[in-house]
Amino acid sequence: MQIPDIIIAIDGYSSTGKSSFAKIIANEFSFLYLDSGALYRGVTLFAIENGFINDECVIDVPGLEQALADLDLHFGAEGAYIGDRCIEKEIRSLAIAEKVSPIATVPQVRDFVDRKLREFGKKKRIVMDGRDIGTTVFPDAELKIFMTATPEIRAERRAAEMRAKGEDVKIEDVMKNLLERDYIDSHRETSPLSKADDAIVLDNTDMTMADQMVWLKEIMAERFGC
Ligand code: DC
Repeated sequence: MQIPDIIIAIDGYSSTGKSSFAKIIANEFSFLYLDSGALYRGVTLFAIENGFINDECVIDVPGLEQALADLDLHFGAEGAYIGDRCIEKEIRSLAIAEKVSPIATVPQVRDFVDRKLREFGKKKRIVMDGRDIGTTVFPDAELKIFMTATPEIRAERRAAEMRAKGEDVKIEDVMKNLLERDYIDSHRETSPLSKADDAIVLDNTDMTMADQMVWLKEIMAERFGC
């Protein structure tokens, strides 16, 4: 199969299965998968551990901005790292999920993450998921997908995923967190979550991953001949 030199940008609401879909696409088309949310989660972990955000989600923006200059946050063999410490497991907890959207509203944080993400984009053949990939990070991405599903199904999927990892969560807490994140992500001033005009909507409420791949392969064949 001829692999096209394209960027696939996947945006959408929390827990719509963006990263699972992106990973399978990456595998199928030999693309590099990049999880932009992991970088926001990594900054959040760093901010919590260093006292730049408190329990009420009040953020010390000047302090955080200064500290970001020396923050070695990057992707490695097992996901996200700070220096040589793998943070992949910690950043998936509800404690991080509760603070990541406020942290992601800070323009200096968004600049920090965007710079890292755009570095990868130079190589093409990547699939990246997030909230502003098709609108802000890669507005020229060749394929943009905007994912959505009902809140009920999203909360169920997310709770099942967290339980599988051993986290004891209540569905009401998961639902509350994702609705709060949707609200903050869609209403922030800098790069809010919104569908790019040229993005294709994928509502996967009643779709399996196999259905989604059939949907995607049709588009890939039609648009890029692969
Ligand atoms: O995709 P995720 O749940 O890991 O993302 C965590 C948070 O990071 C999400 O609530 C908002 C923020 N985010 C963002 O603002 N822009 C992105 N491109 C990716 C994530």
